[in-house]
Amino acid sequence: MPSTLSFDQSRLAEELIDAARAGADILQWDIMDGAFVPNLTVGWDIIAACRPHVQTPFEAHLMIDDPGRYIADFAKAGNQRIIVHAEAATHLHRVVEQIRGEGCAAGVALNPATPLDAVEHVLEELDTLLIMTVNPGFGGQQFISAMLPKIRQAAAMIAERQLPLRIEVDGGIAAATIRSVYDAGARKFVAGTAIAHHPGGKKAAIDELRAALP
Ligand code: DX5
Repeated sequence: MPSTLSFDQSRLAEELIDAARAGADILQWDIMDGAFVPNLTVGWDIIAACRPHVQTPFEAHLMIDDPGRYIADFAKAGNQRIIVHAEAATHLHRVVEQIRGEGCAAGVALNPATPLDAVEHVLEELDTLLIMTVNPGFGGQQFISAMLPKIRQAAAMIAERQLPLRIEVDGGIAAATIRSVYDAGARKFVAGTAIAHHPGGKKAAIDELRAALP
């Protein structure tokens, strides 16, 4: 799925329409507060403004401190899924319940250094576990291959507990890295640079990523 972070920010609605036409199954908004991560992006108003322009499901990846404050706002803005960071929520179980209470699918993201133990007791509530393969904040960073064992460990934990949730990866995902994360157990893939900056355009980029998978 494309991340909006790498889109032309002066033409967001057009970029979303272009990505939808290119075959994106989900469109991911990277929400950053300049505190949890050293970057600042858009708020829920922008998502709400873009919502009517495209039918493709939205998910919001909240890279913000204390995300429980804004779950209702991001739900109302038209996100079908809301993903919060385990490191940013003192009461993570309560925030996941809040997300589901708003009728959204719930995901939890883990920074590269955060162990899987952090989500041990909320896995049953989730439909997505997002394992970051870069340190969040910016697009265009180097894929952290040391995350592959973590993805494998997560896949084993999920399989052992026979849970329906899927592993999503985000950061440095491109034609050269997507097969390695798939083989480790990831089934959802966020790509910013690899899609938005592909010389052949978004459709060529998405087709190339899909072609790299079995
Ligand atoms: C990083 C964001 C990612 C980023 C991915 O903090 O969460 O979604 O936009 O960009 P690439 O695919 O360029 O690494």
